[in-house]
Amino acid sequence: MKEKNKPILITGGAGFIGSHVIRHFVKKYPVYEIYNLDALTYAGNLENLKDIEDKSNYHFLKGDISDVDLVNQLFRKYRFEAVIHLAAESHVDRSIKDPLAFVRTNINGTINLLNAFKSIWANNFEGKLFYHISTDEVYGTLGETGLFKETTPYSPNSPYSASKASSDHFVRAYGETFDIPYVISNCSNNYGPYQFPEKLIPLMINNIVENKELPVYGDGNYTRDWLFVLDHVKAIDLIFHKAELKETYNIGGLNEWKNIELVNMLCDLADEKLGRENGTSRKLITFVKDRPGHDKRYAIDATKIEEKLGWKPSVTFEEGLSKTIDWYLENKKWLVHITSGDYLEYYREHYN
Ligand code: NAD
Ligand code: DAU
Repeated sequence: MKEKNKPILITGGAGFIGSHVIRHFVKKYPVYEIYNLDALTYAGNLENLKDIEDKSNYHFLKGDISDVDLVNQLFRKYRFEAVIHLAAESHVDRSIKDPLAFVRTNINGTINLLNAFKSIWANNFEGKLFYHISTDEVYGTLGETGLFKETTPYSPNSPYSASKASSDHFVRAYGETFDIPYVISNCSNNYGPYQFPEKLIPLMINNIVENKELPVYGDGNYTRDWLFVLDHVKAIDLIFHKAELKETYNIGGLNEWKNIELVNMLCDLADEKLGRENGTSRKLITFVKDRPGHDKRYAIDATKIEEKLGWKPSVTFEEGLSKTIDWYLENKKWLVHITSGDYLEYYREHYN
């Protein structure tokens, strides 16, 4: 008789990073039974997982992590031995418009998962793990110099980052108070295929293709540290299997770009791929009203994960951006499906 595979819950698996994590775990670890719990909000899309949806170790569970009864019921039924928690409201601009949605999912949802995990395993946490995926935005903003370390004090500036910071604190507190075996990782800006086009890189690619204005916030001199999503997934795999419990790991690309430099680069790469005259897309750049509370600069010190777990980013920015643009050009149907309906409404309201 087939031995029972280890049941692992991955939340938010129909989103951008989650779908890459699901694909990686389902394919690489047939000994795991992977359960994807996702509410399929505007950001969740099962098309992201088309290529693995028929795998026998993959199961989709539609549901909202802020629903206490549902979460408890699922833990009782499937007895998840490990959780990789990605489900979240993830867009800063939306958090400015509707902070409570971020409290409900990012804070309450995380606490529901922690409680359900605790109530199933409280008598024996041996071999169990609650892995919480978080963001570098919890550290606030940097000046011209310096890097975020694991020891940098939390100083979130947006409702999104405040909700993620709060969820990190709850995970850590459950570790101290209830001895829950947890790890947390805080990652910098990801990019790559399947990212929802409200985020900078896919938004710009989509607008370049459609010859629409490229809305750069403020003066464009804001800096982000970009990491190709599959390098994040590799870090998640390493942390899941090898991290010390009750530790935090920062993950970043050592790849800082000012937004305006990045948008210029996207324009030039896209012009080349689209056979447009060099400089055509740059003409679409439009400086628009700044984001309130806009963090000036993020940059990660990834020494700890490099030294303790042997992780390093493997995809260069040029290579990653090129692959990403190619993917968006080849997957126009995906873009059309995902940008219809609610998203159009959001776009009109936010950018007008
Ligand atoms: P995303 O917005 O693309 O996907 C979020 C997923 O969560 C969607 O599938 C959505 O349907 C699901 N979801 C939302 N609310 C839910 C709820 N109440 N119940 C169940 N499912 C729900 O997000 P992403 O960019 O893939 O980010 C995933 C995680 O990684 C988040 O926790 C985010 O904070 C973190 N993170 C993201 C980045 C980044 O650059 N994108 C960087 C660092 C950390
Ligand atoms: O650092 C990790 C975080 O990165 C994640 O936790 C978040 O989930 C993710 O959304 C991302 O947050 P940012 O706010 O940095 O990403 P966003 O793509 O929204 O914006 C990147 C930069 O580009 C930021 O300085 C704002 C700017 N921007 C963004 C948009 C959408 C523009 O100039 N114009 C735009 O239209």
